[in-house]
Amino acid sequence: MDLSKRPIWLFPALSAVIALILGALIVSSQLNPAPREASASSVRTAEGVTLGGPFTLVNHEGETVTEETYRGTAMLVYFGFTYCPDMCPASLQLLKVALDELDADERAAFQPILISVDPERDTPESLAQYVSGSAFPENLVGLTGTLDQVRAAATGYGVYFSRVEDSSLTSGYTVDHVSVIFLMDRNGEFVDIFPHGTAPTVIAQRLQRFLQDNPVQS
Ligand code: NI
Repeated sequence: MDLSKRPIWLFPALSAVIALILGALIVSSQLNPAPREASASSVRTAEGVTLGGPFTLVNHEGETVTEETYRGTAMLVYFGFTYCPDMCPASLQLLKVALDELDADERAAFQPILISVDPERDTPESLAQYVSGSAFPENLVGLTGTLDQVRAAATGYGVYFSRVEDSSLTSGYTVDHVSVIFLMDRNGEFVDIFPHGTAPTVIAQRLQRFLQDNPVQS
């Protein structure tokens, strides 16, 4: 996503999303010392929006999945698309670098998930090929669905995306989207957010801190 090429009307929308993220960061930092999984209530941002929530999508193996599918494993949720030329692959590569800083047991506690914001092109088959890329996290799961299903999932996470016509591309369009990674706990509750460009070492430290606060029950 290159902001300099985007129409001016996008900026108010992006500002609203950034305000949402900052709100989430503030809530996150306030709650950090407490063991969050003990709380049954949903974490809310300063704007009163609950992050996360239910979704029904199709994974890259063609199976229908919901948020319940991943209960018991902390999710690292990223919204993006396989045709994205820069931000998505960069983010997923940085996430792999971060996860590679963990030991195998720690890494197994997290399920990285790419939710497509371009379901028209991102079929389960194309996602399967994409998520198997060696530069991406080993166990990365790709999810897609109908546009309505994807939009519902994105709305739950406060994620903005928009199809933008671009005649210079052979496909005729691209998708603008916010590039952030959400850490959700084993109950699907929001824990932390990693804005685009967060250093892998920082992500790794915060994932390890999450595991210290919320040890895996053996
Ligand atoms: Ni992207």
